[in-house]
Amino acid sequence: MTPISRDEACALDDKDPLARHKAQFDLPEGVIYLDGNSLGPPPKAVLARIQSTCEAEWRDGLIKSWNDAGWIDLPKACGAKIARLIGARADDVIVADSVSVNIFKLAAALNTKAPGAIAYHTDEFPTDGYILQGLSNLTSAPLIRLAADDGHDAISSDISVLVKSVVHYKTAAVADIAAWEKAAAEENVAIVWDLSHATGVLDIDMRRAGARYGVGCGYKFLNGGPGAPAFIYVDRQTAAALTQPLSGWMGHAAPFDFAPNYAPAPGVERFACGTPPILSLSALDAALNIFTNIDIAAIEVKAKGLGDLFLARCAAIGLESISPPPRERRGGHLSVRFEHGYEVVQALIAHGVIGDFRQPDLMRFGFSPLFLGYRDVWDATNKLANILETEEWREAKYSARRKVT
Ligand SMILES: Cc1ncc(COP(=O)(O)O)c(C=O)c1O
Repeated sequence: MTPISRDEACALDDKDPLARHKAQFDLPEGVIYLDGNSLGPPPKAVLARIQSTCEAEWRDGLIKSWNDAGWIDLPKACGAKIARLIGARADDVIVADSVSVNIFKLAAALNTKAPGAIAYHTDEFPTDGYILQGLSNLTSAPLIRLAADDGHDAISSDISVLVKSVVHYKTAAVADIAAWEKAAAEENVAIVWDLSHATGVLDIDMRRAGARYGVGCGYKFLNGGPGAPAFIYVDRQTAAALTQPLSGWMGHAAPFDFAPNYAPAPGVERFACGTPPILSLSALDAALNIFTNIDIAAIEVKAKGLGDLFLARCAAIGLESISPPPRERRGGHLSVRFEHGYEVVQALIAHGVIGDFRQPDLMRFGFSPLFLGYRDVWDATNKLANILETEEWREAKYSARRKVT
């Protein structure tokens, strides 16, 4: 694929119907932010909402705001907004806890209902495997580690629950949800989909694909803020049969009855546990409003276009990609290999282009279509080419490893 010129990139921006959304974000001047797949930047409305939640609701409304400002309903309200983005019914998604905790709750509930092995691919985002290792230690459920390239024919009747990403966190390869669900249905296996890198950037229809369980992040493409709470999706037809292990009062059918015994709420609400983090939920709620009138399919098409442009330019400068090529479906990010990728990413950051590094040698870049344009991506690859050509990355200051890469 021949890379387009900068003028052609600018022309694409001129006719891009999503370009107007950039004005809704508060991005630092001179920064090209290619890490919205890891931590989305703040929409201006989120900054205003945090302030009003703190001042008008918390400071002025005090505890009355649980009712008056609708705090108690925020987990469901945010869930309904996310449901629209993943093809779930509005009532079947709730925001709570982190992805890790939600994987635990859902995998444990499904494994209790249908005992058997719990499985994951070894190249999944590590927390998914760590959580299943912990669950296996706790319950003695056998743990099956599938090889990275095991396809749906690896699904067997020994497995009770499989945890699987829709979009791989390094490669951005996209799983065929319907095909996996079909294979799983034949063996009575429940799949918990990790939608972390997919939500807000891919056009997903969980119900149409036959997917009944999912979890995902609020802080990536949804722009809900650092540590934003996660979501959990359970199709209502199966929720009633599931007993979640973290039976906290917020998942009770009537929390304010203060009854001595636990009785689960109907539907996905039983997967709530403790008091929701209202400041973070308010931020997420405001961030989700951005998606209200946007067609998620258009977001996916643009993310692909931006990524394809980046890939073409990388190929021209000799960088090898581990991500799906332009002819295939891909998530909103991609990774290219370079032995000194950490140093190059640090040099890029010094030049205002922010991406991240994943072991062992991957430079990872995300293409959030709501605040990035084709010219941004073109300029970012130009800086990347310069850093490689001049070998600026060799400067000692770029090799100091920090905790978060
Ligand atoms: C695919 C995937 N799953 C899970 C997580 C971790 O989620 P949490 O920190 O909310 O538990 C991440 C974080 O980046 C992720 O990329």
